[in-house]
Amino acid sequence: MIRSAIIGCGSYTPENIVKNSDLEGVVETSDEWIVQRTGIRQRHIAVEGETTADLGEKAARAALIHAGITPDDLDMIILATSTPNNTFPATSVEIQHRLGMSHGAAFDSQAVCSGFVFALTTADQYIRTGFAKRILVIGAETFSRILDWNDRTTCVLFGDGAGAVVLEAVEGEGAPTDRGILTAHLRSDGSHKQKLYVDGGPSSTKTVGFLRMEGREVFRHAVGMITDVIEAAYAATGYGSEDLDWFVPHQANKRIIDASAKKLGIPPEKVVITVDHHGNTSAASIPLAFCEAVTDGRIKKGDLVLFEAMGGGFTWGSVLFRY
Ligand code: UT7
Repeated sequence: MIRSAIIGCGSYTPENIVKNSDLEGVVETSDEWIVQRTGIRQRHIAVEGETTADLGEKAARAALIHAGITPDDLDMIILATSTPNNTFPATSVEIQHRLGMSHGAAFDSQAVCSGFVFALTTADQYIRTGFAKRILVIGAETFSRILDWNDRTTCVLFGDGAGAVVLEAVEGEGAPTDRGILTAHLRSDGSHKQKLYVDGGPSSTKTVGFLRMEGREVFRHAVGMITDVIEAAYAATGYGSEDLDWFVPHQANKRIIDASAKKLGIPPEKVVITVDHHGNTSAASIPLAFCEAVTDGRIKKGDLVLFEAMGGGFTWGSVLFRY
């Protein structure tokens, strides 16, 4: 059977770093509160004129080099973002053009913080049906542009960045020991819309709007939803937490990550944490964290890796794969 294997990854974060102490002059907050409640110490923030397409293009180029392929070898680009350059065309098409690619197809996918897991699962479907052989999947965000910098309950939490992976069709046995994506589980429930949303949009207000969040409410649902889709991944493959080499969760809050890992019995030394230096980069957080752990040698070929995310909508999902 055909499996989708990750053959390369790349990432990019803006050079401009904003530390918690820098935010003490922007809103009434403290480094101590932010670290204690979230684990965040700093985040990268795009400078004026630096866009989601800029970050996504840099991550894409790095992923292509790491995979040892050129844009000519790609059949498709899927970009997960909630902060596109324009309402349309899709920012992925801009990235496609910048890469000098005029064949194949590019489109954006929107599931907020779960966006990368949704985009990766979509790409996996195209590959397993034989529709595409190689797909570049990018998560890129400039959340700083939709933050209300007067709202201390949200503006301290997010950052900008991009990560990308190249998926390629490989032959598998159909067994859990195969290389590539073994199982994926996606969920959404729009009844939670008002807990995490942007208060604008082309069709409703003709504005871009700002991010609004009932943080405590999101927190309250997060661990249950995360463990639900991870248990679904275990049930589908026969694997359990003891079999994982690495857990790469969406990076929203270290307390959510710690509580989820504890509930699932995943030891802290198997958890990749980047929220301390990236903040919450929404759809970019998983590929950023994955790429960091691949680059520093923690994640190795053959490792069993679990991605998980939960965010606005609510949306949530998991992808279990052998790298
Ligand atoms: O990626 C998508 C999913 N998003 C998430 O997963 C985020 C989920 N939520 C969270 O991570 C947490 O709920 C937050 C980090 C947003 C907040 O942490 P919390 O422990 O739930 O705090 P809280 O909202 O209950 O607020 C506690 C207090 C409040 O003051 P009072 O009402 O107790 O007097 C807030 O006004 O902390 C206050 N507060 C702050 N104080 C200093 C809120 N934001 C700040 C701030 N600095 N930046």
